[in-house]
Amino acid sequence: KGSASKVAQILPAYEAFEPALALLRQGDVVAVPTETVYGLAGDATNGTAIARIYEAKGRPRFNPLIAHVSDMDMAMRIGLFDPLSQKLAQTFWPGPLTLVVPLKPDANIHPLATAGLATIALRMPRGFAARLIAAFGHPLAAPSANTSGRISGTSAQAVAADLGGRISLVVDDGATPVGLESTILKVEDGKVRLLRPGGIAAEEIEAALGTRLERGAKGIEAPGMMVSHYAPVAGMRLDVGQVYPGEALLAFGSKRVKGADRAAMLLNLSPLGDLREAASNLFSFMQQLDRTGVSMIAVEPVPMQGLGEAINDRLARAAAPRNGS
Ligand code: TXA
Ligand code: MG
Repeated sequence: KGSASKVAQILPAYEAFEPALALLRQGDVVAVPTETVYGLAGDATNGTAIARIYEAKGRPRFNPLIAHVSDMDMAMRIGLFDPLSQKLAQTFWPGPLTLVVPLKPDANIHPLATAGLATIALRMPRGFAARLIAAFGHPLAAPSANTSGRISGTSAQAVAADLGGRISLVVDDGATPVGLESTILKVEDGKVRLLRPGGIAAEEIEAALGTRLERGAKGIEAPGMMVSHYAPVAGMRLDVGQVYPGEALLAFGSKRVKGADRAAMLLNLSPLGDLREAASNLFSFMQQLDRTGVSMIAVEPVPMQGLGEAINDRLARAAAPRNGS
């Protein structure tokens, strides 16, 4: 029974709208493009749909999901917005920003979606996902469309290769423009805390707020922020000064490290050193290098400014020891 294998259909976005809507109405899941990464979407008000998301991802139940909304009215029916959260929503929505806010007691969200927390992560995406939510009329719970602990899918093909045996539809709208998951913020005691660096650089948020973000873990924060995440099969060596024989190289910028000419395969995140381009290439390049079967991927240094913070965060998770997670 449980192992009945599906084969996901990949449909171009212009043909997929009604089929996607039909699946959501049945309480089923569908992989949809957003501007950050592909999401595995289901009705956030329907416990069966949420259970299917966790099941398809193989995700631990205690890891809560982001509820995606199509407009501010929908967001305010779910969460309580203090003035700072309101300002952040006004400035950056729709876009790659997730806000963690107190969950309204009367919000129509299934508790499995929040893993029973009193707060909820909300995001207003762009593109196909936004139109789908508006037509559906309910928020969509959508984690990144990947098996738990693996690289987030940034193309329909990558999603189908990973989850295709467990879901029935992947909506194809090409490679996602941002390529990294959303930045997650939480306002506490009038201060804005960065829970996860992501598609909007911290500097851009600080400029809009006129204050610095609080950093560093505190309490349970993002329960899903397990250290080992986004893991390719190969090992990862970061900030390398040299490539050893047999290693693949994930490069950045115009200057190559020693031994680069002998790398088993070389992909450059951005030859011109553009961090946006690097972010959009990161996951698909890690997957391509991993598919060569090398045992180690060497990674050149990526600067910490702007989106470099989120890129380095994902690289560090991919390089973390895998045992027990
Ligand atoms: O760009 C994105 O954010 C993508 C697209 C599909 O929207 N979604 C995504 O979802 O990255 P996911 O589930 O892979 O990551 C959401 C993160 C998890 O680490 C989870 O623990 C955290 O958000 N989170 C969810 N609810 C939370 C809450 N109430 N408090 C703190 N962290 C929360
Ligand atoms: Mg994820």
